[in-house]
Amino acid sequence: MDILSVIEHKKKKQALTEEEIHLFVQGAAEGTIPDYQLAALLMAIRLNGMDMQETALLTDHMARSGHMLCPDVGGIPLDKHSTGGVGDTTTLVLAPLVAACGGKVLKMSGRGLGHTGGTVDKLESIPGMQVELDEETFVHIVREIGCCVVGQSKNLAPADKRLYALRDVTCTVDSIPLISSSILSKKFASGAKAIVLDVKVGSGALMPTYPDALSLAKTMVEIGKILSRPVSCVISGMEEPLGSHVGNALEVKEAIDILQGKAQGPLKDVALFLGSRMLLAAGLCDTEDDAMAKLQEAIDTGSGLQKFKEMIAAQGGNPHVCDDTGLLPQAPVIRPVYAKEAGFLCATDGVALGMAAQKMGAGRMTKDDIIDPAVGFVMKKRIGDRVEVRDVLCILHARDEISANEAEQNIRAALTFSPAPVSPARLIRALVDEKGVQDLP
Ligand code: URA
Ligand code: CA
Repeated sequence: MDILSVIEHKKKKQALTEEEIHLFVQGAAEGTIPDYQLAALLMAIRLNGMDMQETALLTDHMARSGHMLCPDVGGIPLDKHSTGGVGDTTTLVLAPLVAACGGKVLKMSGRGLGHTGGTVDKLESIPGMQVELDEETFVHIVREIGCCVVGQSKNLAPADKRLYALRDVTCTVDSIPLISSSILSKKFASGAKAIVLDVKVGSGALMPTYPDALSLAKTMVEIGKILSRPVSCVISGMEEPLGSHVGNALEVKEAIDILQGKAQGPLKDVALFLGSRMLLAAGLCDTEDDAMAKLQEAIDTGSGLQKFKEMIAAQGGNPHVCDDTGLLPQAPVIRPVYAKEAGFLCATDGVALGMAAQKMGAGRMTKDDIIDPAVGFVMKKRIGDRVEVRDVLCILHARDEISANEAEQNIRAALTFSPAPVSPARLIRALVDEKGVQDLP
């Protein structure tokens, strides 16, 4: 058996055997199979698919292509992952809340990619915060405090690193078996035993349509079943940024506002819903109502905010940002953008808003760019809101006037108004787990 026969079999739509999958994944991780053969196989998989058994095997072998963490955190290691959004800071809200309710949240997060923000970049806006910790420290913090959020360790699922980079440049990202195995292999390798996934649907999400999102969710739940690691998926809309704050320090501030009980809205709603699934997966609650009530109580009593402070301090950051968000980096130019026309906000181009923040310096334009933690904007209107002339649409936080003016133009171009009333965007649409699909109103 060699790589040519593996490509040949997939070209002819045959299911690959475990030996074939092992050969391909190992060769990808070790660098013994050249890019062109991997690329040919990826395209054959993209076009001809993989059945559930193959996809589970691929996930398992990718997870085991590097070091696998098997942490003793004094409970079930929990993880959550979002397929990518704008203004999506659920991790920073739910990790401390779940920890305050007794959960053990072991979270390896990514950096920003394109127009979407990365949790690790956001955390680094907290003065002193370390996100590159050795495994022992990472596990120790989860055991002691209940949550820790770090960057991905270098040796985590190396086969995925190689394959993902190739997929990115060969039009083979949009394959459900490849996406599922890519996401779950990293979660399994980082030691998570129960996983909650937020599958985003909408323009600009990885899955633009609901049937695709549902199919991705079902595949990931099924892989979890086969590999005995419970996976549940929440399908949520991404028609506009989830939170109102877009930008690294601004998103940390919004998470703190929610933990302080000062802010409501879709970011809090989705974070609590995902958090409730984690508490249920860990067996810490019996019903969804019970789980939601516990999480709200952690906000009301301040125990969630206290956990966030402890986590920040354990990771070398300044925990006082939780009492005074003015200690986070502040932009020199802060000014509103006013509406020029009246109407109802009927569409928000989330990708364009993410890109507007990226151009202000909140994200990287190239791999080696340095992020400006202070910049971004705070949206004051959501889809469905009535807007009058001179209403504040958003507040810009910019490095200088030129950048503020450019952002203003980009944000205006991303918003569409209609004279007739429109309904707010749908948020949490379905829950997919071992019991099946549950549509949510
Ligand atoms: N995120 C991943 O980690 N992998 C994919 O393939 C897509 C999104
Ligand atoms: Ca993310």
